[in-house]
Amino acid sequence: MRLILLGAPGAGKGTQAKRISTEMGIPQVSTGDILRDQIRRGTELGVRVKYYLDQGNLVPDDLILEIVQDRLKQEDCRGGFILDGFPRTVAQAEGLEAILERDGMGLSAVVALESDSETLVRRLGARFTCRDCGADYNAQTGEIPSRCTKCGGPVGPRDDDSAETVRHRLRIFEEQTAPLIRFYEERGRLRRVNGMAPVEDVFRAILSMLG
Ligand code: AP5
Repeated sequence: MRLILLGAPGAGKGTQAKRISTEMGIPQVSTGDILRDQIRRGTELGVRVKYYLDQGNLVPDDLILEIVQDRLKQEDCRGGFILDGFPRTVAQAEGLEAILERDGMGLSAVVALESDSETLVRRLGARFTCRDCGADYNAQTGEIPSRCTKCGGPVGPRDDDSAETVRHRLRIFEEQTAPLIRFYEERGRLRRVNGMAPVEDVFRAILSMLG
């Protein structure tokens, strides 16, 4: 299974990718997680990309394509993968086609998680994450611990979840990522799922769609 989860910030890509990964035994490849990990570790790449993430802007396509190409070469991706947060521009989608074609692979499906912007703004405003391991907590659906229940790390809002940056990220999604809906529709790959339903219902809907 080679799957893309497409959706605006807060649509539930990460949440669903983790569940599908466990269910199907294939890795979640999240470009956002890869970039945040580089920033946390203070690598050269992390220093280069931090400004883009803080502003809610997209990291340049060539850099992202290089990261994804390297990641997909790794052994654990041989049996399939779930792309979460990539591609995000038509240029990235075309780059991905080239990478997959070169390796004689195709995409199984592209699942678009659909949601209205009020729901997304509310969700992201209530999101807290562990600064060390990235674990997700949401005030809308549960308690927010002062230390991470998984690793004991500090818990707080994600740096790019301020109201202003969320609004900017949503604008960037509309301008640069939403055109991918049409891109994959034209290729007969797109499946739409209501991302506003409860997490479990969204998960079931995706699984039944993937057959
Ligand atoms: P990235 O980390 O990919 O952020 P994003 O796309 O903005 O997505 P989020 O993580 O905010 O949301 P999500 O859809 O994963 O939702 P989640 O499941 O977490 O990217 C961050 C930045 O990195 C970008 O702005 C850019 O700078 C850079 N970047 C990354 N990829 C790039 C690329 N390809 N090209 C260029 N730049 C790139 O859920 C959100 C919250 O809602 C959680 O708290 C969750 O618990 C809750 N929730 C989820 N589903 C539900 C539900 N069904 N009901 C109620 N609550 C729910």
